[in-house]
Amino acid sequence: MSSQKPNNLEIIIFGATGDLTKTKLMPSLYSLFCKGGLPDKFRIIGVSRSDISTKKFIKKLELEQIVENYKRKKIKEFTSLIQYISLDFNKPDLKNFQDKISSENKFNNRIFYLAIPPEFFKKAIQIIKKNGLIHAGGFNRVIVEKPFGNDLKEAEKLNQYISSVFDEKQIYRIDHFLGKELVENIMVFRFGNTIFEQIWNRKFIDNVQITVAESEGIEARADYYEQVGAIRDMIQNHILQILSLVAMEPPKSMLPEHISEAKIDIFHSIETVKKEDVVVGQYTAGFVNDKETVGYTEEKEISENSNTETFAAMKFSLNNERWKNVPFYVRTGKRMRKKYAEINLRLKEVECNLFKKMKNVFPEFNVITIRIQPHEGISIEFNTKTPEHEYKLKRVSLDFCHDCMFGYQTLNAYEHLMYDVVVGDRTLFTSWEENKSSWQIINPILNKIIPSAKLHKYQAGSMGPIDSYKLLKKDGRKWRKAPKISHDHSPNIR
Ligand code: BG6
Repeated sequence: MSSQKPNNLEIIIFGATGDLTKTKLMPSLYSLFCKGGLPDKFRIIGVSRSDISTKKFIKKLELEQIVENYKRKKIKEFTSLIQYISLDFNKPDLKNFQDKISSENKFNNRIFYLAIPPEFFKKAIQIIKKNGLIHAGGFNRVIVEKPFGNDLKEAEKLNQYISSVFDEKQIYRIDHFLGKELVENIMVFRFGNTIFEQIWNRKFIDNVQITVAESEGIEARADYYEQVGAIRDMIQNHILQILSLVAMEPPKSMLPEHISEAKIDIFHSIETVKKEDVVVGQYTAGFVNDKETVGYTEEKEISENSNTETFAAMKFSLNNERWKNVPFYVRTGKRMRKKYAEINLRLKEVECNLFKKMKNVFPEFNVITIRIQPHEGISIEFNTKTPEHEYKLKRVSLDFCHDCMFGYQTLNAYEHLMYDVVVGDRTLFTSWEENKSSWQIINPILNKIIPSAKLHKYQAGSMGPIDSYKLLKKDGRKWRKAPKISHDHSPNIR
């Protein structure tokens, strides 16, 4: 752990009774606490509407169940640093809130975590402003979760609210995929090695594919998911962020503003997506990992007439020197065959292909795969001759296995990003301009294409609707097959 951490810190989580706090934030903060990644003087204040006591709030976090056995030793010590305050944004009792929040212990560094739906942003920001929660003496940082608005206009409004209290350097827009080891590794892989960057362009790459598949359904998030769907939930943020890291030019330096500039250039180079290059789908009943599952419209609290897409695939074309005519295909969906995320770069055929002319010899394309999860790593596939008299080629793989090299105990994405906020490192957070530019790509798709697009049904447990295969087939290409091994219970999914 770095030593730049402050000597005292208070984290105020708005939306503390939500799923995110329970499944990601608290376990990550607990893990940081155990590793000494938090200041000695530290407390967490959970704020939410439910009228419950601190004791009940802590019980509902179910930390005992969530953290692994051998890590439970410090739970009591950790939870003694948690306080809960009930606050209804629609009729806030600010006096009670203010009384409870001002404590004997003086904390002069604060992190505000906004884990709330966009409609409550304005109120939360007003409460922070009006109640003097911004300390003059130390630092004040705000972490903003997605969805950051439901469209460009809303995102602009939210940004105005936040900017009226915090300046850009205090705002940490979180995209947890940027905290995943292999996503962070993309820049090192590309710009820290001579061999890859030379071929990372249209001369050598035929197409790029980004797949973020999930076997889970919508869990207990019907309300949220109905409002967003797969495009807003995954493509507007995580997938476009990954795409920008794969496609960008080398940034001037590793400073957050330079990385951000390089990503924005990519977003600006993306051409308007055409209707025929978008496929959306919704899952029907099926089997995932041998377990029978219901269809989306049979899920609890989902209307039987819902048109929300639970799957989306699309083709992006980049109009720049490096990537002209190299399609970037992306796909994501719920209740797909497996949970995995990877980037595949398929290389072009060798120009002088001696072997293609030989009988029964079938050289395959080279493929570079970056496995984001699970079993993080990078592989390069190439042809080799088999040891037989007859000339035969076989595709083999050079594989870098991240877990084998560094073990399973590396930081999980939220833990990594929370620590960065504590020490004030903004490298892995997105700027407003990035956010705005990705909305500029997605907005026309949502407004002009989706309302009249056919919602293709796909069976739970499949890799999405047939039409998503046709999307590539019409270009003479295929999706890379899902990895064979079932990875769903890997300890390394994060
Ligand atoms: C979140 C989405 O941002 O990412 C979820 O809102 C999705 O719908 C999740 O399940 C996937 O993240 P991970 O880290 O579990 O792959």
